[in-house]
Order: sequence, then structure tokens, then C-alpha cells
Amino acid sequence: MDSNGFFGNWGGAYIPEVLHQTFQELKKEYDRCRKDPAFWQEYLTLMSTYSCRPTPLTYAENLTRHFGGAQIYIKREDLNHTGAHKANNVMGQGLLVKRMGKKRVIAETGAGQHGMATATMAAKFGLDCTIYMGEEDVMRQRPNVFWMEKMGATVVPVTDGSRTLKDAINEAFRDWVTNVDDTHYVFGTACGPAPFPEMVAWFQSIIGIEAAEQIIQYHHKMPKRVYACVGGGSNAMGIFKRFLDEDGIELVGVEAGGHGAESGAHAIRLSSPDASPGVAQGYKTMFLQDDDGQMKLTHSVAAGLDYVGVSPILSDHWENKRVRFESATDTEVMQALDLTMRLEGIIPALESSHAFAGAFREVGQLSKDDAIIINQSGRGDKDIFTIAHAFEDPSWKKFIIDRGREYSNS
Ligand SMILES: Cc1ncc(COP(=O)(O)O)c(C=O)c1O
Repeated sequence: MDSNGFFGNWGGAYIPEVLHQTFQELKKEYDRCRKDPAFWQEYLTLMSTYSCRPTPLTYAENLTRHFGGAQIYIKREDLNHTGAHKANNVMGQGLLVKRMGKKRVIAETGAGQHGMATATMAAKFGLDCTIYMGEEDVMRQRPNVFWMEKMGATVVPVTDGSRTLKDAINEAFRDWVTNVDDTHYVFGTACGPAPFPEMVAWFQSIIGIEAAEQIIQYHHKMPKRVYACVGGGSNAMGIFKRFLDEDGIELVGVEAGGHGAESGAHAIRLSSPDASPGVAQGYKTMFLQDDDGQMKLTHSVAAGLDYVGVSPILSDHWENKRVRFESATDTEVMQALDLTMRLEGIIPALESSHAFAGAFREVGQLSKDDAIIINQSGRGDKDIFTIAHAFEDPSWKKFIIDRGREYSNS
């Protein structure tokens, strides 16, 4: 990152005047923390005592046998406290908030995992907490809304635009501008104005640092490929960062193919020609937008992957070809999820299932001596309504109808 917050042609900090001082403070505190080994140590201790780190690297023996190619390893970010990699970033920012002496946090959330992690951190650190969430995502991720509220957060459903993540981000910025003195915006992914992309990627880099050590321990050499799903890009940057300077390791980001690249109903920014460079939400990246710069509607079965933009760090790695980008359709994702549940007894989140689908398509072509790592960014429990609906599961439907009847009669 250069001194203006750019990664090559991407990034920057396009912020309103009223936020300048806050950003200066944030940058200063972040720089201080980065240079202080005691801060990283404090972070590691917090994550190991509160969030089950290091998360395991699981050898997927049955999937490996099924595909007959490279050895498949799964980095288990689903086993973090609150069920996703989002905890890594949030607890790190929580430590920063404490140092900056702010009393209130706000956040945006798509799949709800970031909101859930932020509500958890706020409860632990004694902070007021407001979470903005698109109305559509409130419906898709109801279990997470329930937990956020139970932990004391106020969840505000956003009814603008497509009622998903980008609209929640706009609303969170509106709040921040008016409450800047006592409030920190816990940005949820490696996007937004500098220093957020760099800072979020730094906290998430714990994933790749652990995974590199673990794969050497189990497989005795580095992996051939590393796969991660890409919404905003935080779990992908988290696992990729450690491997970026290693020769011969292919890094593969899998985006939300939705109903297919030709359908228009997807969130493919980097692996299709549908996105173009733009500046929005405080930074420059590849956005899905029309010729007038209006953000397009996106679609994915996974609420955490249907964002219109992408990390400026990933746009840079796309441009310099260090990371290869692919996409997986909703149908492929459901098939990958089904197979992983049946063969390994593991339930990946719908977001993470994109990484599995991308890997499954290619792993059979690799040698048995090689290994791949799939980053399982989160667990699928939160998706039970969407998954049961997509599988058209009759017993789940009956359960919901019976419960509904019970409530309406009470
Ligand atoms: C489990 C899970 N994985 C992935 C994502 C996508 O975000 P990112 O690309 O920042 O990792 C989300 C976002 O909500 C998520 O909840």
C-alpha cells in the first residue's frame, strides 16, 4: 500500500471532510499497533483464549479419495467463536477501539456473521452496538439477527436499493458521519477507504500464517493451490497473504456465479467482463455498475457474497495476475455443500461452499503428491433456512408450517 492508501491502481480513501480527523486517528493507532509486537501478541492471546485459535487444518480423506487427485485439506475458520473468520477482524478492531477510547461501535453485515461477531465483541468489551443489515438479508439470515439482538445489539433493517450489503454500508457511513466523536465503524471486509482494506487483511492474515505451518506439519511441503470464496475479500486475503510471495503456489478466488455469468443475476466482479473500475463507498475498485455508474443489482444464494465491489487489494492481484479468479453458480454450490456434508460430515457456510465448488472442479487434474487447501470461512448453521429451501426438504417445511400454526394459535 502506498502512502495514499493505493494498491497499484486501486484503493485510496475517498471520504467526506467530516471524517478526516477520525481517519487520521485510526491510521495513527493502526500504525502504532502494527509496529508493536506486543499488540500482535495480545491479539494472539485473545484469539486463542476466546476464539479457539489456532483453528485446525482438517485432512479431507473421503473427498480426496472421491476425486482421486491432490490431497484436500480444509482450513476450519468455521470453528472460530461465532462460526466464521469474521471474528478475527472484529476482535482485532475491538482492541483498537479500546485503545482509541470510543464507547460505541457500528457495523454493516450481509450474511450476519460480521454483525454477530461485532455484537459479541461489543458485549465482551462493554460497548454500545448498532448493526445495519439489508432487509433482504435480515430475512435470509434470521438466526444471526436473533443472536445479535440477544447479545444487546440494535439491528437496523435497511430498506434502500437492493436491501443487501451495499445498502447497509451506505447506511452505516451515514451513521458514522453524524456520530463520529464516540463511534468506531467496525468495517467487515477488506474494502472501504484506507486503512480498512490493509487493516482487515492484516487481522485476517492469522489464517494463512497458521495454515502454512499446519500444511508443512502434515504434508511436509507447501500446497499447490489455495482456494477461498470472495465476497469483499477478507477471508481470501486472510489465507492468501502468507502465500503471496511463495513461488509455485496458485491462489484461486471463487466469486458468486448466482444463476450463471450470462444471466446477469450474479456477483462476478473479477472473473467476468461485467464489472468496471469505479469509485464508491470510499474507495476505487472493480464494481458491478451501469454506464452511468449506478450500482447494479446482484444475486447469490449466499448473502455474504453478493456485494457489488471487491477488495482493492484483490483488484490489484487480479491485475498483476497473482490471484486467479473463478466463479461457481448457486447450483454448483449446493452440490458441493451436499457432497461435503455426506462425505466428510462437515457443513460449510453457503459462502465457503463456493470455494469448495471451485476446488472440486479442478482437484482431479492435480497429482496425488500435491495438496490443496480450501478455506472454510464459516459454518452452515446460519444458512439452515436457505439450504432446506434449496433442497426442498419436506420434513423441514412441515416443521416450519407446524411451528407457524402453533404461534398463530397462541
Ligand atoms: C462465512 C462467510 N464467508 C465469506 C464471507 C464473505 O466475506 P469476505 O469475502 O470478506 O470473506 C462472509 C460474509 O459475510 C461470510 O459470512
